[in-house]
Amino acid sequence: MECELADDSVWPALLQARSRLRQGTSPIALVETGAGWRCAAAAEVVPGEARQVVYFDGAGNGQPERGATLCWRAGDGLEIRPGRQPLDAATLCMLRVYAPVLLGAAAARAAGRVFVVGHVTQTLDGRIACQDRAPQWIGNAADRRHAHRMRALCDAVMVGASTALGDDPQLTVREVSGPQPVRIVLSGSGSVLRAARPLRLFADHGCCVVTRVGGAVRPPAGVRCLELEAVAGGLEPAAVLRALAAGGTHSIYLEGGARTLSSFLAGNALDLLQIHIAPVVLGSGLSSFELPTISSLAMAPSFTMQHTALDGHVLLCCRPVGRP
Ligand SMILES: NC(=O)c1ccc[n+]([C@@H]2O[C@H](COP(=O)([O-])OP(=O)(O)OC[C@H]3O[C@@H](n4cnc5c(N)ncnc54)[C@H](OP(=O)(O)O)[C@@H]3O)[C@@H](O)[C@H]2O)c1
Repeated sequence: MECELADDSVWPALLQARSRLRQGTSPIALVETGAGWRCAAAAEVVPGEARQVVYFDGAGNGQPERGATLCWRAGDGLEIRPGRQPLDAATLCMLRVYAPVLLGAAAARAAGRVFVVGHVTQTLDGRIACQDRAPQWIGNAADRRHAHRMRALCDAVMVGASTALGDDPQLTVREVSGPQPVRIVLSGSGSVLRAARPLRLFADHGCCVVTRVGGAVRPPAGVRCLELEAVAGGLEPAAVLRALAAGGTHSIYLEGGARTLSSFLAGNALDLLQIHIAPVVLGSGLSSFELPTISSLAMAPSFTMQHTALDGHVLLCCRPVGRP
């Protein structure tokens, strides 16, 4: 199966769009003139000079001759209104996956909230690790590249303490060009601060640990701690997000593990969920989600979903139904 996210030609323009949207420039457009894609203020675009134009955030509404228009609508997700000139398939696929993140993050920034994208790489039977939880890579090279693009588009990357301790990830952008996100570990008890060995996350200054009041005991040098009131032993995702938004974080790529992702799903705090499915069955091991027992399908979180081929694997981009 092909990799539908293999063509990076629009990537530099998406990074420019990220910067412009963060600065509050809107509407903007991506323009392809034959010399590659670039990002411009929508008002600067001369449609006749461009082979392809994509307007972000409502510009060009009602003027299809001006190009395709992408909108992020709270409750509905990404809307793509086609223009008269068709977009090439590779660019359209990149936009379907990454434009919701840019537009959702911009809307969240304007509203003073945080746009959260959860990600999990799982087997066909919904497992993310073997029973012993030893770090093993289920994904493929295309998924790794996708994850690094997502890190570059978001203000911050977050993992739970067990993932930080067990997998010792770096959570940096290395596979593509782009800015480095703030790295955040959620650790209610502060266990990540008592690691038996130095963690790579803490090697560079600037990592932030979110913990309960009193949990930040002797943090390693350069590690910032955010202490919040715990409720029933845990931190409420909504409270975590409020505190991070107050500090200027408006988009988060939440990379697991199961308990952290589940607490955000249960707390209705995910705007998007990306599930990478690898063609393998474990038959045992750690499930992608750990949620309270329910007795009816009607009580289960449900999603609208689109799929993307990732070199023999599949990426599902899922939007929770009923998300405001
Ligand atoms: N395949 C994949 O995509 C993927 C991705 C990531 C991880 N993994 C695997 O997943 C496993 C780890 O997952 P896991 O579910 O065991 O653990 P986890 O989610 O990584 O971490 C759980 C810990 O995070 C903290 N935490 C999470 N939510 C919290 C909340 N609402 N309030 C306060 N603290 C919270 C707690 O830390 P404290 O204990 O400090 O309170 C909790 O014990 C590893 O085997 C790893 O390799 C797989």
